[in-house]
This record gives sequence, C-alpha cells and structure tokens, in this order.
Amino acid sequence: MSSPSRSGVFQQSADRRVEQFTESISFDRRLYRHDIQGSKAHARMLAGVGLISEDECKQIEAALTEIEGELDRNELPMQIELEDIHMHIEQALINRLGDIGRKLHTARSRNDQVSTDLRLWCRDAIDGLDQQLTELQRSFVSRCARDADVILPAYTHLQRAQPVLAPHYWLAYCEKFERDRERLADCRKRLNRSGLGAAAVAGTSLPIDRDQTAKELNFEAVAANSLDVSSDRDFVLELAFTLTVIAEHLSGWAEEWILWSTIEYRFLTLPQQFCTGSSIMPQKINPDVLELIRGKTARVIGNLQSLLVLVKGLPLAYNRDLQEDKVPLFDSVDTVSACLGLAAPMVRDAELNRDHIVSGLDRGYLDATTLMEFMIQHGVPQRSAHHLVGDLVGKAIQQQVPLAKLDPQEFRDAHEVLDERVFEVIGVENAIQAFRSYGSTAPSEVASQVAAWQKKLDL
Ligand code: ARG
Repeated sequence: MSSPSRSGVFQQSADRRVEQFTESISFDRRLYRHDIQGSKAHARMLAGVGLISEDECKQIEAALTEIEGELDRNELPMQIELEDIHMHIEQALINRLGDIGRKLHTARSRNDQVSTDLRLWCRDAIDGLDQQLTELQRSFVSRCARDADVILPAYTHLQRAQPVLAPHYWLAYCEKFERDRERLADCRKRLNRSGLGAAAVAGTSLPIDRDQTAKELNFEAVAANSLDVSSDRDFVLELAFTLTVIAEHLSGWAEEWILWSTIEYRFLTLPQQFCTGSSIMPQKINPDVLELIRGKTARVIGNLQSLLVLVKGLPLAYNRDLQEDKVPLFDSVDTVSACLGLAAPMVRDAELNRDHIVSGLDRGYLDATTLMEFMIQHGVPQRSAHHLVGDLVGKAIQQQVPLAKLDPQEFRDAHEVLDERVFEVIGVENAIQAFRSYGSTAPSEVASQVAAWQKKLDL
C-alpha cells in the first residue's frame, strides 16, 4: 500500500528506505488515545458547523472507539508506509467507513493534529508526574514525626557545619519538589491552548469553530497564530527542562543517601528490597537504585540538550525535524516517572541509625557558630567573635575534645562575656535550641512547618 499522503501528484511510490527512514509509528504509537480524543472532538466540530452530517459524525465516533479498542488490544497492524499514528488511525477509519472516513481530515493537517495530540499527552503526563511528586513529598513528611528528635549535621562543602533536626532535611526536599510542581503547573498552563484548526500553517477557508474543539478538549484558550502553532514546541522544551530539574533534585538526594548509607557515615539503613547484592562479595548490600536514579539524570539532561538543538534555527513553520521531539520527550517522562516511583517508597522506609548519629555529633564543632552568635548577642563585634571562637576551636582540636569539654577558664581567658553561660549554648542539643529565625532549624519553626506540610498534603 502506498502512503495516503502520496496520492495525486506523485507518480512514483516511495523508496522503501525512505519509508523506513521517515516513519515515526515506532515511537508515536503511544499517542493513540490522545489522537482519537482529538479526532472525536474535531468530528463533532465538523458536524456542528455542517461540514459533515450528524449521522456521519456518529459513525466516525463509533468507528474511532472501535479502533481505540483494537489499539488497546494491540490488534491494529503497524505498517511503516502509513508513517505515523495519525495516518494509521485515519486509514483504519477509511477501511471501515469509506468516504465518510475520508471526511475526517477536513480542515485539519497532521501539523495541528500532532501539536494537539502532544499537548494532550503532555497534559496527562504532567498530571501523573504531579501526583508522583506529591507522593514523594508525603514520604518525606511522613518521616518527620518519626525522626522529630533526631539531630543531624548540616554540611556545606561536605564539611560539617551546623546541627539541624532531621525533619529540616526532609522538608528541604519537599520545598524543592514543590517548586518542581509549580514549574509543571506553569508549563501545563502555557501548553493548555488548542492548536486544532490552525491546519497546516495558515488556517483554513472552511467555516470551522476552533472554540468548540478547544472547549471539548478542555483547553483554556485557542492559540492565536497558525504559523506559530505549526512550529511551536516551546511546551516540549519547558517540560523537558522541568523534568531535568526534577532529575537534578533526585540525583542530589540519591547521592546524599548513598553517602549516608556507607560505613563511613552510617546515618542510614536502606530498605533491603531496594538494594542489590554482589556476585562475588557476599557481604555487599549495594545502593544500585540510588546510583541509577543519580545516573539516569544524565540522559534526562541529554534529552533536554537534544530538544534544544533540534528546534534551534528552524524557520517557520512545521519542519519535519520536529518529528524527532517525541523520542527524547517520552524518554525523559518515562525516566523521571520511574525514578519518582522508586524514590517515594525508599524515602518512606529507610531507617536512620539514631545511636550512631548521636555518637558522632560532638565531632566537627557544629556548635561553634552558635557560640559566636552568643558573643554577638553580648555586644562583641561579629568579626572579633568569629576570630575568638576560631581560636577556641583551635585549642579544642589540639586537645582533641569538643568545645563543651574545654576548661571554663579557657573561655574566660578568651573574652569576658564567655562565663559559665556558654555551657547553655554549646553542645548540639543546646545549639539546636538556640536557633530562632524564620526558616531555621529551631524546633518550634520546624514543628510549625511540619504541621503546615501535613495539612497541605492531607496527612
Ligand atoms: N509524523 C509527523 C510528526 O510527527 C506528523 C506530521 C507530518 N507533517 C507533515 N507535514 N509531513 O511530526
């Protein structure tokens, strides 16, 4: 069979190699539900304006439902000469309905069709991803009550910095994933415009009703310029970028937990169902899932890069290059979705090794900054206090003790404000209690943020 798009002007059928090279059915088949959804809306609009009859519309809709069933059951044979999912479905319709089927493509081109299908597909993908991000946030927030009293070192430059409550860590990730949800929502808002009716590039001379199809497909508005619709893939770029940020966030978390689960840190025991073994070293329990979450970020970044390069320098309007957008887009959605699906149960089920964490908290002088702030509160200029506490830490390092084990006389010698009250602010427990600023790890701050998240996530 020759391609329906080659009838008429062509006197020769396509070279087989061209068909193989130009096909997209091998990867755009997964658009079929959205293609059928768009086609039904288009048929109803054609009937609404009188370009087809009500009866023809009913037959088209019924046949499209049957074709969808065949695609669901994998019964519709794929033929590369039909190039893409749009032509497979249209041909199946023509095979069933003859001339009535030949009317569906009235006032429509595959250019506005593929744009519509892809927008619908992305919209659903975004809704699914949003759900998965919420699940992951729930996992983090569900840990907060369990880990409420655990103090962890916060790091900068991967060097011990200040003490924080474990829930402060968990909520840091909730904030990141919340911004990702906002980015998704923003992307959804911008892609939620109907291109259907832009036809190939210039619109149509037929009396169509673009508002009707937009409404039927739950688009918020109609895209205003047909040249723009034919060429626009901004929404694919935005989604691919947002997916990259999600993957970046996941990769940082994965790296952190890989470190935390080592014997060197021993902060965390990963759930064994999410670990793998070694074929030669019997003792190994490896964090391969976390490593792959970190590793798969590479291809999500690569996909964004591919898409950016793909659309670079394309003149208006549709160019066949755009067909290549689906492979990286689908891969990024699939990859990030798989990562989120594994992250949520791992976050929920991992166990903090409380005893080990506590036993190491007096290393690294996590309370030094609090001591400096104590001096500032008693009138010592910040630079001077910084220097004096640095000196005291130096002495403690020499004696191989934490600050709280220095002789009180050393404090008094360093500065007159450093009397016995310093022992109320040094030590990680005291240091935690000393915090007070909004957004800090102060216990009352953390508690109110945990409560806000629990409310937001219905926990
Ligand atoms: N398979 C094509 C794609 O995915 C459909 C659009 C083809 N349009 C065209 N004018 N050849 O981009």
